[in-house]
Amino acid sequence: MFRKSSLLLLIIALATPFLLAAAGDGAWITKVPGKNRQRQNPFDHQSNAIAAGGKLFRQNCASCHGDEGTGRDNHPNLHSDRIRNATPGELEWLLNNGSLKNGMPSWSRLPEQQRWQIVSFLKELAAGN
Ligand code: HEC
Repeated sequence: MFRKSSLLLLIIALATPFLLAAAGDGAWITKVPGKNRQRQNPFDHQSNAIAAGGKLFRQNCASCHGDEGTGRDNHPNLHSDRIRNATPGELEWLLNNGSLKNGMPSWSRLPEQQRWQIVSFLKELAAGN
């Protein structure tokens, strides 16, 4: 007989991979739509944008990711291959949408221009410059 408890176990078994999607596993990248992925950063490698992005980072991001972006607790280190290899469009999408279930807020309240400045800064950071 199929008891209620076995149904519950089945549901738990099926849901486990989704529940296990954890902060810092990079699963957010798979959610970025193609058209966002391909967007170019209008401020790529521009030193004034990198400086402005660094200031925004210290104001908005350092509390979780650390002053140097090296991460702490379940807040990922941003000096990583994932950030180095991500397209600018992927990073801007993450900033705009966040990864709310895993604790990364959305930064859609910042003007788009500031999100691209932050992306310039992140790329510089991840490149180790
Ligand atoms: C409240 C804490 C918090 C704040 C503030 C925060 N983040 Fe995050 N951030 C997270 C968490 C948690 C993750 C992991 C999300 C995931 O893996 O789904 C994350 C993930 C990221 C990632 C992807 C890292 C990876 O390896 O996948 C980037 C890039 C990032 N944050 C940049 C920023 C920037 C830039 C800011 C400021 C504008 C910021 N974060 C502010 C908590 C935070």
